[in-house]
Amino acid sequence: MFMAENKLKLDKGTAEGIVERFYKRQGIETIDGFKEMFVTKTNDVDDYDEVKILTIWDAESCFKNWLKSDVFKNAHKNVRHQSQDEKSPIQNNEVFTYSIGYHYVNQ
Ligand code: HEM
Repeated sequence: MFMAENKLKLDKGTAEGIVERFYKRQGIETIDGFKEMFVTKTNDVDDYDEVKILTIWDAESCFKNWLKSDVFKNAHKNVRHQSQDEKSPIQNNEVFTYSIGYHYVNQ
């Protein structure tokens, strides 16, 4: 299993509004090998807000297929960084990937 994270650095006080933009699925659920998604707001960050989108996949190749797809492009067509639109609350983003060594769900 594989995890990909997108970390958003946001203007202070804007995290809740950004998190709400993730409530409705925009096609990722149709991609082969996509399993789970979490959207988190990091606690105890003082100067800015931080939101992470964590996606879990069967394999890295499934994530890469999504990145190359029109589904990804469409889900991001209204997304702007501050460098593209000064009114956007999104200062920047950083992507991290992980190999999942172990996963347990208590159910
Ligand atoms: C270029 C940098 C990126 C920014 C600023 C960004 C920000 C956003 C925002 C604000 C949305 C909500 C859509 C909307 O409001 O219209 C969204 C959708 C999404 N983003 Fe990104 N994103 C970026 C790249 C990525 C990357 C690389 C990943 C994965 C690691 C990712 C994961 C997701 C997911 C899972 C969704 C929901 C897609 C769906 O439901 O089909 N994003 N993104």
